[in-house]
Amino acid sequence: MMLIYRGHWRPIAISQVFALLYVAFMIFIPMQVMIIINNYQDMNAAIQNAILIGIFAVLTGIFCMVNTVYAVRIAEATGNYIRNGIFSRVQSFSFGNLDRSATGELLTRLTSDVYQINIGVQLALRSLLMAPFAIIVSLILVGITSPQLLWILVVVLLLSALTFGYAMNVMQKQFRTRQEKYDLVNNDLQENMAGIRVVKAFVRQDYENKKYRSINDGFRKANVEPLHTNAFTLPAALFIMGLATTLLVIFGSPLVAAGTVKIGAMLAFFQYTFIIIAQMWQLSMLMPQIVSAEASAGRLKEIWDTVPDIQDSKTARPVVPENVEGKIVFENVNFRYDPKGETDTLKNINLTIEPGQTVAFLGANGSGKSTLVSLIPRFYDVTTGRILIDGVNVKDIPQENLRNTVAIALQKAFLFSGTIIENIRFGRTESTYDEAKAAAQVADADSFVTAQQDQYDARVSRKGQNFSGGQQQRISMARAFTIRPKILILDDSTSAVDIETEGRILDALPKFLSGVTRLIVASRVSTALAADKIVVLEKGEIVAIGTHKELIKGSQLYQDIFDSQLGGLKPEDIS
Ligand SMILES: Nc1ncnc2c1ncn2[C@@H]1O[C@H](COP(=O)(O)OP(=O)(O)O)[C@@H](O)[C@H]1O
Ligand SMILES: [Mg+2]
Repeated sequence: MMLIYRGHWRPIAISQVFALLYVAFMIFIPMQVMIIINNYQDMNAAIQNAILIGIFAVLTGIFCMVNTVYAVRIAEATGNYIRNGIFSRVQSFSFGNLDRSATGELLTRLTSDVYQINIGVQLALRSLLMAPFAIIVSLILVGITSPQLLWILVVVLLLSALTFGYAMNVMQKQFRTRQEKYDLVNNDLQENMAGIRVVKAFVRQDYENKKYRSINDGFRKANVEPLHTNAFTLPAALFIMGLATTLLVIFGSPLVAAGTVKIGAMLAFFQYTFIIIAQMWQLSMLMPQIVSAEASAGRLKEIWDTVPDIQDSKTARPVVPENVEGKIVFENVNFRYDPKGETDTLKNINLTIEPGQTVAFLGANGSGKSTLVSLIPRFYDVTTGRILIDGVNVKDIPQENLRNTVAIALQKAFLFSGTIIENIRFGRTESTYDEAKAAAQVADADSFVTAQQDQYDARVSRKGQNFSGGQQQRISMARAFTIRPKILILDDSTSAVDIETEGRILDALPKFLSGVTRLIVASRVSTALAADKIVVLEKGEIVAIGTHKELIKGSQLYQDIFDSQLGGLKPEDIS
């Protein structure tokens, strides 16, 4: 846990110095009491000692306070540091890393786990060093003042260690289970919220309610168990205290009567026993918290230590975007999402796209169109084979540079809350208003944006909910155009746009991005007709490449797709 938070040794050291001072002064009070009682005839000395006790008590309070203030500050700083760190780690994740991590879990990590660590650090700074110190010093002082009774304290210590150690052990497992159940609750909540409209549309509320209740109940049970264990520690502490008192009375009284142990020492002994048991008990209360924080830290460490699947190689050399011509070559590319899996999502892809060409990709759902194009900006790395841009392997181009050269409008349009212009400028914040507007015009978004009262400053609500699917797609295309890339990929990004509007966009593109290589994934044949080349995919393989005219004669699959969509037209009708 401490490993996560490096570098703040000074405040930590200061807090610990004050913690030790606090204990030292607290522990000397019983000594003073002993002295007063042993010398009760000497009134002056008694008053002096009593004043000393008062001063000690005040100092004890002050030191305790300073320690607490430092502990709280360090704990908050730790939480803050971890939150920032985890967030930026997640930002560095590549698509593959993201596929493997549930967002619900990430949320728990950033909230509940960080909170656990916060509490853990705070308690650790307040007691972890202090409690053993108090115990050891108490033992030493008792050893000096009444060595004949020291064994009682040793018995007390052993008993406490056994009892509280056992409780801690049990609680550690229980805390782990609790956190796992908490993850389940969050993940279910997250998924349900994302799909709540589907739930309503299919009247599945009852099922969802039942499912959530059962998961939530699991969490409740897991939550209660460590508390049950904890509930047994206070009675245990009281029992040990009682036992110590009994032993002391039985074995101590004869010694006092015989005069070998003074009455003041006996009294001090009582107080030290009390201090020791209280400290042991406190340790047992806070250890589960610290253990829990450890568990949380372990879970966060998984994220912290995740190495992004895709990283810039040491030999990566930036390309100058202006000089990129935009030739793309796929050389014997195979790809599988799960490196350990059996099946290839893309098989034996060989494809050459010349600079400035428009290439359309057609194929059934799941045939691998999105996968194929996502390999070009290196969202994933090919499993075997190579992808070259102007003869340079994409793995040899720094990612940031690569993604300034290759722009993509993703299949699922996503808008951030903010304004329209912010969303359009997202990839190139330095672009001007005119540039953004020009891009929006090409994406046929300008008309509906200017119809808004605030035009380009119109608010976009969370996830772009105040815009239709087609409008969201048009803004997200404008976002890609604004980058003014050398290679543009539209991954089915007109699927929710009506055919007429789509036609306008595709007609306007060549002029706006002249010379830019365009890859257009299409689910409609109409989208693909104007392309220089159409690539037909089936089950991850290219089954045909050619122009519309070539394919309509040469590819049965293309003919089938064409007939099913534009069956009324004769192929000759299309120029
Ligand atoms: N992130 C992913 N992780 C694992 N498998 C995926 C992922 N994305 C897509 N697939 C699988 O890869 C195949 C091709 O998907 P995709 O490229 O999205 O097809 P298309 O875009 O042609 O509809 C599908 O079988 C799909 O299940
Ligand atoms: Mg797709």
